[in-house]
Amino acid sequence: MAPMAPLHILFLSFTFLAALSSAAGDGWLEAHATFYGDMSGGETMQGACGYGNLFDQGYGLATTALSSVLFNGGKTCGACFEIQCFNDTRWCAPGSVTVTATNLCPANWSKPSDNGGWCNPPRNHFDLSMPMFVKITKDYHAGIVPILFRRVTCWKKGGIKFEIKGNPFWMLVLVYNVAGAGDVTAVSVKGSATGWITMSRNWGQNWQTSEKLQGQSLSFSVTASDGRTVWSMDVAPANWQLGQTFEGKQF
Ligand SMILES: *[C@@H]1O[C@H](CO)[C@@H](O)[C@H](O)[C@H]1NC(C)=O
Ligand SMILES: *[C@@H]1O[C@H](CO)[C@@H](O)[C@H](O)[C@H]1NC(C)=O
Repeated sequence: MAPMAPLHILFLSFTFLAALSSAAGDGWLEAHATFYGDMSGGETMQGACGYGNLFDQGYGLATTALSSVLFNGGKTCGACFEIQCFNDTRWCAPGSVTVTATNLCPANWSKPSDNGGWCNPPRNHFDLSMPMFVKITKDYHAGIVPILFRRVTCWKKGGIKFEIKGNPFWMLVLVYNVAGAGDVTAVSVKGSATGWITMSRNWGQNWQTSEKLQGQSLSFSVTASDGRTVWSMDVAPANWQLGQTFEGKQF
């Protein structure tokens, strides 16, 4: 048996752990945040999740790009995070923001990870829209601040939206405005004359199938990272066209 550590060392490690867990308790993790674009949010449009006009799609300015570790090949697209500035009395403003992940902050290996290459693996990093960054800081001149972040439930108005794209031989469906966990892990489509067809992720939250479903009404099932599934039956009528968007049920 190992000799017991002197009591004062045990006490010190206990207080150290207690301090750590109170700083980053309740599921909060440490990372850093920067911003991209300007106050208009225009620069945040489109992006690696495959969303389009973020204002029309309900995300607005409350968005963030994620470093590749957090982005996870697009699997985290649509997830919501609460973020607060942390441990920087010069730049931190009180309060927090809740943002949806809509883009990737790519690694840049020509810059060191601690000096400009903020999104390089293995860093957890949030590149916020400028309007979100200035809410958690006193001034955008902060440039980069330490933050605490945690996953939170997404709140969205209305149902899940399905934008049908692609061509007659290949259906691509953008799934957006997803409440709850927010990040979709599986999508299936069913034509009125078919069974359920599993779609595969093309990129971001764009899901694809090569089944030909023209002239059939369409139903969708959407499964999120918390394992819950919602079924939206016959959301698109038989005469649906490429380019149209349909609204289904919500988590
Ligand atoms: C807070 O910031 C100081 C100064 O940058 C740093 O030395 C310290 O480790 C930070 N504390 C935590 C809990 O991150
Ligand atoms: C990476 O950083 C360099 C140096 O600042 C810059 O010139 C280049 O455009 C960056 N590359 C990307 C992909 O952002």
